[in-house]
Order: sequence, then structure tokens, then C-alpha cells
Amino acid sequence: MTRTVYVNGEYVAEQEAKVSVFDRAFLFADAVYEVTSVLNGKLVDFDNHMKRLQRSMLELNYGPKIDEDEFLEFHRKLVSINKIDEGIVYLQVSRGIAERDFAFPSSDTKLTVTAFTQKKKLIENETATKGITVITVDDLRWKRCDIKTIQLLYPSIAKTEALKKGADDAWMTQNGYVMEGSSNNAWIIKGKNIHTREADNLILNGITRLAVMKVAEQLKYRVVPKQFTVTEAENADEAFITSATAFVTSVVKINDYKINNGKIGVFTQSLREAYIKQALDTLT
Ligand code: PDD
Repeated sequence: MTRTVYVNGEYVAEQEAKVSVFDRAFLFADAVYEVTSVLNGKLVDFDNHMKRLQRSMLELNYGPKIDEDEFLEFHRKLVSINKIDEGIVYLQVSRGIAERDFAFPSSDTKLTVTAFTQKKKLIENETATKGITVITVDDLRWKRCDIKTIQLLYPSIAKTEALKKGADDAWMTQNGYVMEGSSNNAWIIKGKNIHTREADNLILNGITRLAVMKVAEQLKYRVVPKQFTVTEAENADEAFITSATAFVTSVVKINDYKINNGKIGVFTQSLREAYIKQALDTLT
């Protein structure tokens, strides 16, 4: 079946969709994006994804504002046209089309808004049952990783490097500290404490990360946001990642160190189950 995608207010077959070669996304990676998961044909945590999108746009001085109701409507429509029961909606907003110039174009330049869906098994899949393995690599990104831009070349290099080395993903590090995964937040459990790095300008404040913190509190687990070293991670009791596509996915090996004997840990598993349950209870 041909997928229908969204381009500036129009629903078009993916082969027909067109964006200008002068689009700032194409020339300068001048675009922000969101990935919202879909369960039972409905959106997970849509409001918070829109809040983060608005923040990303504000941080980059995008002129025009977005209409959240309109965005909700086309997300829903794409999910329905493409019959997505489980998967994601990818949304991208670029600064728009302008003659190539490093300086931003005038603030009334029309945004380019595109979106498409992907079918994906998010709840039951191989990584949910087996966990993933990660290697650590130097974090060579810029210093505004809190803005969800489409400058994803380095994470893409890191992920490819991980696959080449037989691992599933890469955790990016600075000065011996774990920052985050190539497209997810990194967590460890040590004793009674669950740690994930505090959200500042060097990592993305994951929507799933925030939801998992609440779920952990409800389970009476102790979340202590703090940065942790690669060595601490390698010696953790459990480790996991969070994202809109991974939800809570166990990490069973970091570099050469097996975590929890290479098996999914009980806390991680209960967090995953509790997260999915609350996501299913709060769909939009
Ligand atoms: N990535 N950190 C990075 C660098 C990310 O790219 C992502 C999300 C996250 C987790 O954020 P959230 O919980 O809001 O999905 C953390 C998406 C899924 C992607 O690029 O496909």
C-alpha cells in the first residue's frame, strides 16, 4: 500500500511528495522534529511532544508559531489513512525556503511542515525480550543537544559504528561520563537508586524519560537524576534506555561488561510494563 504523507497542509502519496531544494532543512539542517509513538491507533504523550517542539522552535528563533490543534488533526489523520495501529509519526518543521545564505531569512518565512508514519512493533519485539548491547563512543555533537534538530549525522555515525562492532547502539560520552544513546536517554540502576543524567544543554530531555520518572515514583523507586561514568555503568545492577520508539528497553551489555549476567533486570522489566500501561491509559 502506498503511504500517504503530509506536506504543508496536503496529504499526498509518498512518491508525489516534494520539498524545495532551497529548503533550510536540506541546506543547513535548519529544522526541528518530533517522533510520537502510536499505540492502538492513538498518540502517546502528544501534548508533551508539541510542548517540546514549540520550545525547540523558540530556542532557534523560528518566526511563525504552530497551531497545536491543527498538528493534532493531521497526526490523527495520517494515522488513520495509513492504518497505523502500532508505530510512529515523524514530524518535521523547518525554517522554510530561502536563497542560500547563512544568516536566517526574514522571520515571516513560511515554515515547511512535513510528517509521515511508520509501522513498528513497539510493545512486543526482539529487543523487548532480549535487551540490547551498547558500546561507548566519544560524544562529538554540538552544545545544544537539548534542541531536537535534524542534525543527526554524528548519532548516525555512532550507531553505525556500534553495529559494525556487533552492538546494537552507542552511548555517547564526554570526559568519561555517559551523556545519552544515539537516539535515546541512558539510565542505570545501582542498589536502590535509578540514575539518568540531569537534563541540560548537552542531552535531549526525553518525553519518555519524564514519563518514566513519574512511573518510577509511583512504583516507589528512588530516581536520583545525576550523571554517571562509563565505569559506573559497566558495574551497574541494571541498565536501560528510554525513547518514544524503545519505551523502556533493557541494556544487557556495555562494552565488554555483561549487566545482570546479560539478562533483563526485574526493575527494568517492571518499569517497562508500568510505562506501557500508563501510556495505554493516556492515549490521545
Ligand atoms: N529520538 N535522546 C536523543 C538524542 C534522542 O534522539 C531521543 C529521541 C531521545 C528520547 O526522547 P523521547 O523520549 O522524547 O523519544 C533522547 C527519537 C525517538 C528519534 O530520533 O527517532
